[in-house]
This record gives sequence, structure tokens and C-alpha cells, in this order.
Amino acid sequence: MNPSFYVKNIPVYGDLILAPMAGFSDIPYRLICRRFGMPMSYTEVISTCGIVWNSKKTYKLLEFKEEERPITFQVVGNDEDRITEACKRIEQLGPDIIDINMGCSVSDIAGKGAGAGLLKYPSKIEKIFKNLTGSLSVPVTGKIRLGWDHKTRNYLEIAKILEENGASLIAVHGRTRSQFFSGVADWDAIAEVKQLVKIPVIANGDVRTAADIKEIKKRTDCDGVMIGRAAIGHPWIFQGRDREAVSTSEKIEMIRYHLHCMEDYYGHTNGVILFRKHAVKYIVGMTNATELRPNLLKSMSTEEIISYITAHMTNYSNYEAA
Ligand SMILES: Cc1cc2nc3c(=O)[nH]c(=O)nc-3n(C[C@H](O)[C@H](O)[C@H](O)COP(=O)(O)O)c2cc1C
Repeated sequence: MNPSFYVKNIPVYGDLILAPMAGFSDIPYRLICRRFGMPMSYTEVISTCGIVWNSKKTYKLLEFKEEERPITFQVVGNDEDRITEACKRIEQLGPDIIDINMGCSVSDIAGKGAGAGLLKYPSKIEKIFKNLTGSLSVPVTGKIRLGWDHKTRNYLEIAKILEENGASLIAVHGRTRSQFFSGVADWDAIAEVKQLVKIPVIANGDVRTAADIKEIKKRTDCDGVMIGRAAIGHPWIFQGRDREAVSTSEKIEMIRYHLHCMEDYYGHTNGVILFRKHAVKYIVGMTNATELRPNLLKSMSTEEIISYITAHMTNYSNYEAA
């Protein structure tokens, strides 16, 4: 099998990638998606302050399994020196790639000039990438939005800066920061980035179905497609299968397995609690799913979660018309 693309010298064997998602793209879920053909892992976003301050919680987020390689550590920060220091430290933990988050829209982060807030300061981005590509051995990549707001859509300027300063890949979420998750992702803007640079471009935003995967590839000619929200509770998307195409028994089996992996990694109680938000996503679109949500969100045991879902899925295995 030929690689779909390379991140500098690292081959990536597949082009549908799980988006980094805080609270969701943890080791258990990344490994499940890998079983479905997802070819590279991104950690959840990691604070550069947490790294330099040696926060235990932050370092926990940097754990990964060998079978996840290539593994990308994604970091967020607003200070060029702290970003460099943090990345040098975490490079020692053996990631294959380090990614700089320039897309986070959360006010606490973007409002302080980190995440999508960095897009307001192109010269800072230039400095960050120059520093990192000059001092790290692993490839450095960036994940961006289209700009801060509709008046400052500077994605082409930023893409050029990344490429000229040694970035090895750009992932583009086709929205501005001020859009947060509203409106529609602009796939044509992602196509412009792809035409502009020679490094791989990963298209991201609003890919929900197998048809969307085909369409975004056609529209952008991108090297890969990054899938976020539509992959929660639906790892089958990485096989190009829509929710409707997955049988009830496959879903129940996966829910059991996912919950088991969560308990294994986080311990019984935390595993169950952290699984609840995934559980409600496995039933998205099913008839009367909203009736089941409150029960799932307060379930305290594996047996409870499984029995609620099994009973519901057996009763309502059909999907609501879109
Ligand atoms: C719950 C949640 C957490 C997210 N956390 C991150 C993150 O840690 N790092 C990041 O770069 N983007 C993060 N994102 C943004 C996604 O990676 C992605 O860019 C965005 O959801 C658009 O893709 P989608 O339409 O396929 O969901 C997050 C999104 C969601 C919904």
C-alpha cells in the first residue's frame, strides 16, 4: 500500500483523520478509530503553560500507545518562547510530529492570543515556526482557521508563512474564529490553500457523511480529510460508512467495547462517567434518542449504560428521517 501523503519523512497510510478534540480524542477512542483504518493520531490540545509548569494532568494527556504511531502532540500557547520551551521538553517523550493549534475558538484561549487568537499576529506565527523547525528534530505542523473574523480572512498569508518557515503540513478548518461552529465551513477557501502550498493540506469542517468525504476531496484536492464531530459515536466513518449503514448489533458491540476500553484506561468509575458523553453520541439520529439521553447522562455503572442502550436500540433501531 502506498502512503496517502508524507509529513516530512513520515508516511501516512490513509487519508481520513480523527480531529483533535478535547474531551473526546483520548487514547481509548483514538485506538478504536485506528482499528477502523484511521492512519495517524493527534492528542487532545495541550497547554504549553501546563507543560512548562509540569502539570500532572497535562502530562497525562501526552500519553500514547506505540501502535498509534505516527502520533502528533498538539500544543496551544500565546508566547513564542514558552511554546519553544514546551515543545523541546515534550519532544523528549517521543512524538512523531508536533502540531501548533491556531484554531481553538474558546474565549479563554483565543481571547488571550493563543489558538485562533494567534491568527491576528502573523509575525508571531512566523517566529514560532522558525524557532520550532530550527530547534526540533520532529516535523512541525499547524492547524488553522480561516482568520479571526470575516474581515480578516488571512488564511493564505498564514499558510504561506507556515510553509516558508518549515511547517510540514497544514490542517485547515474552513471557518473563522468569530464563526465558532456556526455557518458552513468554506471548502473553497481550503482549496485555495491547497493550490498555494506544496506541503500536504488536510481539509476540515462539516464532513458528516461518506458523500461529504467524496465532495470535500473533489472540491479541495486535499491530501487528507479531518473529521471531528461526526466521528464522535461513529468510528465507522473512517471506513466510509454512514450511521444508517451500521447495524444495531454492531453498535451495541462497539458501545460495550468502547466502555470496556474506557474503564481499562481510566478505572471503573471515571471510565463510566467519561463514557457517558460518548454514549449519547452513539444514539444520535435514532428515534426517540432524546428520551434516552437523561438516563445515559446519569448512569453510574456499565450494566446500566448497556441495558438502557440495548433496550432502546432494540426497540427503535430505525433512523429518523433527516
Ligand atoms: C468537543 C470539541 C473539542 C475540540 N478540541 C479541539 C482540540 O483539542 N484541538 C483542535 O485543534 N481542535 C479542536 N476542536 C476542533 C476540531 O478539531 C475541528 O476542527 C472542528 O470540530 C471542525 O471539524 P468538524 O466539523 O468535523 O467537527 C474541537 C472540537 C470539538 C467539537
